[in-house]
Amino acid sequence: MKVKKAVIPAAGLGTRVLPASKAMPKEMLPIVDKPAIQFIVEEAVRSGIEDIMIITSRGKTTVEDHFDRNPELEERLLSAGKEKEYAKMLEIANLANIQYVRQKEVKGLGHAVYCAKSFIGDEPFAVLYGDDVIIGENPACGQLCAAYEQYGLGVAGIKRVPMETISKYSSLKVEGVAANHFKITDMIEKPAPGHEFSNYSILGRCVLPPKIFSIIENTPKGSGGEIQLTDAMRVLAMTDGMMGVDYEGTRYDMGNKLGYMQANVEQALRHPEIGVAFAAYLEDLMNSLHSSR
Ligand code: UTP
Repeated sequence: MKVKKAVIPAAGLGTRVLPASKAMPKEMLPIVDKPAIQFIVEEAVRSGIEDIMIITSRGKTTVEDHFDRNPELEERLLSAGKEKEYAKMLEIANLANIQYVRQKEVKGLGHAVYCAKSFIGDEPFAVLYGDDVIIGENPACGQLCAAYEQYGLGVAGIKRVPMETISKYSSLKVEGVAANHFKITDMIEKPAPGHEFSNYSILGRCVLPPKIFSIIENTPKGSGGEIQLTDAMRVLAMTDGMMGVDYEGTRYDMGNKLGYMQANVEQALRHPEIGVAFAAYLEDLMNSLHSSR
């Protein structure tokens, strides 16, 4: 069955990037000149997704404003002859059919996804974590949707992380199936030392069958006292089976300071307007750092 719907959880408190995220959603943090969540919506659209539900919470109305029309701004751009900018603003508002629902209490990623139950109905759907931007020619979400259609099983986007950091992530037990496709046989969220399966972790994307909702209903609080999506996916993996796709693309974790800075530096270097000047600036900066040592 073709995957046409996506859920973007963006209701978290973003405590790792405070104070930036105190009054502004971390999902709205820009990479050069574009908010993280716009990259994510664009990836979903390029993957063939038609309907998107963004899970928000108190203080996140700027997300809705960003994907809405802004007549005052549009009028100003038009009267100033800035047609290109005007077209860009319209494009953002027309990117996809986006709906919103509020997660009233921030109770974890599994709980956030559950808020989309009635929007999803009886279809498979993609989940794109609102603070994970993945840049690449071939959209990561689309790679997972293709695997869902191929195997008829839930699919997680997986990548290796440094073993010494695995306790901050999920850890997966995997068996290679073909090239970058794996069978996931077990998983654990934020493993204590000695409990990790491998340094493969679920990072940023998954495609799930609607059955996941009844599993989440029966998922007790897990790591951090939250309803963890990983715990629900574990049940899915143990009952129906689940696949992992080590997707192509560079992932930036906008929810931590280093990831946010890496995203900005690397994308600034590629930016058509400032790329060349930024590269020259970085080179100068590196030279002055070396000569001051
Ligand atoms: P994170 O665990 O990275 O977000 O969830 P967080 O809770 O905001 O992070 P910290 O630890 O406090 O910095 C991944 C994605 O899931 C969303 C977040 O907004 C983020 O985009 N999320 C998380 C929810 O929508 N609801 C939740 O209850 C938890």
